[in-house]
Amino acid sequence: MHIDILTVIPELLESPLQHSMMKRAQEKGLLSVQVHPLRKWAVNEYGQVDDYQYGGGAGMVMMCEPLAKAIEELSSSAAFDDIIYLTPDGERLNQKMVNGFSLKKRLLMICGHYKGIDERIRQQYVTREISIGDYVLSGGEIPAAILVDAIGRLLPGVLNDETSALTDSFQDNLLAPPVYTRPVDFKGWKVPDILMSGDHRKIEEWRHEQSLQRTAARRPDLLDE
Ligand code: ADE
Repeated sequence: MHIDILTVIPELLESPLQHSMMKRAQEKGLLSVQVHPLRKWAVNEYGQVDDYQYGGGAGMVMMCEPLAKAIEELSSSAAFDDIIYLTPDGERLNQKMVNGFSLKKRLLMICGHYKGIDERIRQQYVTREISIGDYVLSGGEIPAAILVDAIGRLLPGVLNDETSALTDSFQDNLLAPPVYTRPVDFKGWKVPDILMSGDHRKIEEWRHEQSLQRTAARRPDLLDE
C-alpha cells in the first residue's frame, strides 16, 4: 500500500508516522507514506497556496491551482484508488470504511486548512470526503495521521498477532471485552475467576457476553446496525 499526503504543514505528520506500528509497517515494506509540502506547487515565489474567499467572509481558502498541479503530478505515474479529502463535513469514519481502504493499493490524502479547499477541487478530483468525528480541528493533518494509522495496522503482516485486529472493538459492531493482566489481586481488586479457569470455550462465551453488555450500555446504536 502506498499513501501520498498533501499538506501545508508536513512537520505535523512526521512523528505519528515514525513510531510503533507505522514504523514497523514501513520498515517491513508493507506500507510506504510520502508527505508532500503543498507549497512546492505554490502560485508564486512567496509560497502562496491560499486566498480570500469570493463573496466575502473571514478565513482563507486553499486555491485550485496548487492542488490541481500536485494531484496531476502525483497521479501521472499511477492512478489513485481514492483521493481522500479530510474535512469535518465528510462522511464520518468508521471501522468498515477503514477495512475497505486497507484493501486499496494507492491512496492520496489531502489535508485542508483555514476555511478548506476550493469546492471545484472537491468536485473534480476528490473521490471520498472523510471526517474523523463531529468536532472541528485546525487542519486535516491529525485526521490524516489517524486514517493512515487505522489503515496501516490492518495490512497483513503489520500486527504481530495476526488475529488481534479481528478482536478489536467495532470489527463485528461490538465493543471489545475487558482485559486483565498480572497480578491476579491488586489492592483486593480481583481478576474474574472465569479467566483463570483454563476453559477456553467458557472464556470465549464470557467475553462475548461482556462485549454485548458493554455495547448495549455504551453504544446501543451499534447493535441497531
Ligand atoms: N479537519 C478539521 N476537522 C476535521 C475533522 N473532524 N475530520 C476530518 N478533517 C478535519
